[in-house]
Amino acid sequence: MAKFSDIKGFVFDLDGVITDTSVFHSQAWHQVADKVGAPWSKELEDGLKGISRMDSLEMILKAGNLQDHYTDDQKVDLATEKNTNYLKLVDKMTPANILPGIKEFLDEIKDGGYLLSLASASKNAPTVLEKLQLTNYFPKIVDPKTLSKGKPDPEIYLKGAELINLKPEQCIGVEDAAAGVESINAAGETSIGIGDKTILKDADVNFTDTSEMTLANIKEQMD
Ligand code: BG6
Ligand code: MG
Repeated sequence: MAKFSDIKGFVFDLDGVITDTSVFHSQAWHQVADKVGAPWSKELEDGLKGISRMDSLEMILKAGNLQDHYTDDQKVDLATEKNTNYLKLVDKMTPANILPGIKEFLDEIKDGGYLLSLASASKNAPTVLEKLQLTNYFPKIVDPKTLSKGKPDPEIYLKGAELINLKPEQCIGVEDAAAGVESINAAGETSIGIGDKTILKDADVNFTDTSEMTLANIKEQMD
C-alpha cells in the first residue's frame, strides 16, 4: 500500500458513496426482476453494485435462467424501463440525500489541496450531482460511454487518475461495491471500502459508514 504522504488525489464512486442512490438502483432493478420472474436476493443486490446498466440486466436474467428468453431489443426496453423508474426517484432528490459526513469530507480534501475525480459507472452521474448541488466539486468525471470494460476492470479508475494527471499510486479510490474495490486495486490505487467489511474485505482501508471517513482516520489505517 502507498504511504499516506504519497496521496495527492481521490477518485470517487458516486452511488452508495456520495449519496444513497444505490437503494434507488436496487428498488428499480427489483421491479424488473419481479416483472421477468427472476429471484431477488441480498447476494444479487450486492453483486449488482457498481455494475453497468446492461450488465446488471444480464445478471438479473441469469439469476432466473432467462438470458435466452429476451431479444437484444427487448433487453434494451427492460433496461430503459428500469432507468425511467430510477430517474423518477432521482427527480425527488435534494442535497439532503448526500450521505453523512460526505460534504464535510469533500471540503476537507478540497481545502487540503487534493485533486478529485468521479469514476461512476452511471450515465446519470451528472444529473445526480446536479440534484445534490455537488457539480462544482467534480470538474473531472469519467464518461462511462468511453469505457471498453466496466468494474471490476481497472479501466475506470485508471481514467479517473489520468483526468487529474496523477499516477495511480498517488490516488485513493472510494467505493461501496466489491466490484469497485477490485477495480481500484487492479488499477494500483489505494482502496477505501465503505460498508460491510466481509463484502469489502479486499479494501486497503475500511469504514462501516461514510461519517467515519476523514483524512485523519484514513491516515491512521494507512500508516
Ligand atoms: C453504478 C451503480 O454506479 O452505476 C449500479 O452502482 C448501476 O447499480 C450503474 O447499474 C449504472 O448506472 P446507470 O445510471 O447508468 O444505469
Ligand atoms: Mg457504488
